[in-house]
Amino acid sequence: MALYSAKVMDHFRNPRNVGVIEDADGVGEVGNAKCGDIMKFYIKVDDDVVTDIKFETFGCGSAIASASMATELIKGQPVEKVLELTNKAVVEALDGLPPHKIHCSVLAEEVIKAALKDYYDRHGIAYDPALFPDDHDCESCEL
Ligand code: FES
Repeated sequence: MALYSAKVMDHFRNPRNVGVIEDADGVGEVGNAKCGDIMKFYIKVDDDVVTDIKFETFGCGSAIASASMATELIKGQPVEKVLELTNKAVVEALDGLPPHKIHCSVLAEEVIKAALKDYYDRHGIAYDPALFPDDHDCESCEL
């Protein structure tokens, strides 16, 4: 079996929603200290719906594919639903990632949460801090 699914290769070669939103409502940036990869997401929100999303990443092919797929899953969705997006959903949508690349999808889950938190903070919207735990245990992210 090929190491990477056709979907991973497609999103790696033709990533969707790459770029910057200058007047974003929320911006999130996360990195993985072990591999050095960085992911940045920009979101526009209207009426509690993520109407636009763009990303930049300095990362591996799986990080690019994960970010690209995550933006496709998020665009047009209500904020409440986006908050529930897990790296598992991203991996499933990509038809899988090799075990040593699962952490790349974790970056996508973390970065969208960071962008949503920034959106809440900028707009003075109250939220449950438990939604955004900052005690992420990088040791559990396998390279
Ligand atoms: Fe670290 Fe892919 S995000 S190797």
